[in-house]
Amino acid sequence: MQKEKIIVTGAGGQIGQVLLQELSNRYGMDAVIATDIRPVPNWGGRFVTLNVLDRIGLENLVEEQGTTQIYHLAAILSASGEKDPLMTWQVNMDGLLNILDTARTRGIDRVFYPSSIAVFGAGIDLQQAGQDVPLIPATVYGITKAAGENWGYYYYHRYGLDVRSLRYPGIIGYQSPPGGGTTDYAVDIFHYAARREPYTCFLAADSRLPMIYMDDAIRATLDLMAAPKEQIRVRTSYNLSGMDFDPQELAAAIQEFVPDFKVRYEPDFRQAIAASWPQRIDDTNARQDWGWAPAYSLRSMTKDMLDHLGSTISSGQPIH
Ligand SMILES: NC(=O)c1ccc[n+]([C@@H]2O[C@H](COP(=O)([O-])OP(=O)(O)OC[C@H]3O[C@@H](n4cnc5c(N)ncnc54)[C@H](O)[C@@H]3O)[C@@H](O)[C@H]2O)c1
Repeated sequence: MQKEKIIVTGAGGQIGQVLLQELSNRYGMDAVIATDIRPVPNWGGRFVTLNVLDRIGLENLVEEQGTTQIYHLAAILSASGEKDPLMTWQVNMDGLLNILDTARTRGIDRVFYPSSIAVFGAGIDLQQAGQDVPLIPATVYGITKAAGENWGYYYYHRYGLDVRSLRYPGIIGYQSPPGGGTTDYAVDIFHYAARREPYTCFLAADSRLPMIYMDDAIRATLDLMAAPKEQIRVRTSYNLSGMDFDPQELAAAIQEFVPDFKVRYEPDFRQAIAASWPQRIDDTNARQDWGWAPAYSLRSMTKDMLDHLGSTISSGQPIH
């Protein structure tokens, strides 16, 4: 079997920190190289400072390491992206093109590219977004992800580069802080609940969105990347879903474990972004093609989050 050498970009972020651990469990610590423009917390393996806009630095690292796979996580997220749309376009688009073209010219086997439910927007039924529907996003972040999916499709069909992608919904985990997205409330709320403090939610009480527990998102990512090539029939990006809920339902799920927990609603600019996104997404293709099935429901996720954050607090370790 070929020995894998895996580069993860944006490895210091919410997903990267957890993905690094799972990749190193699966392939060994020596197989995984974390890269980012900032340090990666709690990572005992190799780390290289790398800006994804630095094409030469990227090419040198890929060559020097005999890289076989790249997980390209580096990006500016939806809410942060609206503060500087042109810079977001540059980081998300030029960064991806550097990855794809380096992968093509240096013979990389597989590239993982995370897309997002932010690709959806006007012109579709937002009650349930299908796999192959028009993509008219409302944010610059969504525009970059929709374009990025098409670049992946292009590199696969034109050059045979094995690019695989998931449209992640909002990701909820206890392991790492979220990085400036519209679904960040669904992580923050647990930290307040675990500290027994009231939470002020930046989305409206009835703002329903698709979400997924971190463990499920990481498993989906690794399963997609491990699936035989012929099973990957969607070469833009797979719809992926774990559950869907609105802030009011999440608060009620938390109150089952923390009865006196209180939430106020003060929607800000992120509410308009949330309102442009679908409430649910249809992930039938992922289920059929490579056997996707989420393990966590709203209730089991809520319990697991509070168990982990509660034990962090009672052991005296700081939480953000
Ligand atoms: N977290 C979610 O809910 C979610 C949902 C859908 C899609 N995604 C996608 O998954 C990927 C990872 O998301 P995340 O939540 O971990 O994001 P994050 O913001 O927590 O992490 C992104 C990382 O990229 C790094 N980065 C930014 N600019 C860079 C550059 N020029 N060069 C190198 N690194 C750079 C940041 O320092 C950060 O550590 C992103 O592509 C994001 O669009 C995330």
